[in-house]
Amino acid sequence: MGIQISPSMLSSDFANLEAEAARIAGADWLHMDVMDNHFVPNLTLGAPVIEALAKVAAQPIDAHLMIADPDRWAPQFVEAGAGSVTFHVEAAAAPVRLAREIRAQGARASMALKPGTAIEPYEDLLPELDMILIMTVEPGFGGQKFLDICLPKIERARDLIDKHGGDIWLQVDGGVSADTIERCAAAGADVFVAGSAVFGADDPDAMISTLRGLAEGHTP
Ligand code: DX5
Ligand code: ZN
Repeated sequence: MGIQISPSMLSSDFANLEAEAARIAGADWLHMDVMDNHFVPNLTLGAPVIEALAKVAAQPIDAHLMIADPDRWAPQFVEAGAGSVTFHVEAAAAPVRLAREIRAQGARASMALKPGTAIEPYEDLLPELDMILIMTVEPGFGGQKFLDICLPKIERARDLIDKHGGDIWLQVDGGVSADTIERCAAAGADVFVAGSAVFGADDPDAMISTLRGLAEGHTP
């Protein structure tokens, strides 16, 4: 699939989501951060907002559910029109069942890991997944500093994916910028979430091109 950029709308103007999506025409996805004030100490948006944006945006929606009980709530996000739905393995009671349900509904199923969660215990789940999300900050807020300690896990996740041979994307999220994206790409990531780096730039769409070029230049 190659390198993909999924800007986090968390750093965009929530009063103008349609216009903000149009400002980033070069984005492969729109990353929507769903937070419930339980799994993370912040509250953002839910399925109705994603449904509204999905109807008017050109790009598909990449929903990142930082919520408790994703087993119960994730299907709503597929129904709302998300093309990819990511649940946190720390919150899922039955990740295999949940991934199968997301796929059966017609979306890509993705599993996220917080910085302190190891990938190895989930190796056998890989065939059930379309993407793994390695968090490179503690989830909850945009604009945090990239955690270098997560790089070895990106490498190990890439090795596991290659070993299984499936077409599983490897996403990184948190503190990804022109300063850090090369390290992520070199470690094996291929889908890059960037919030403050994209929407904090004078020209967000040009920043997407910059990030894409940096990542493409450092693909292993
Ligand atoms: C953090 C969210 C991220 C966040 C990224 O919990 O999952 O998607 O918006 O923002 P930056 O790129 O600013 O770290
Ligand atoms: Zn996110």
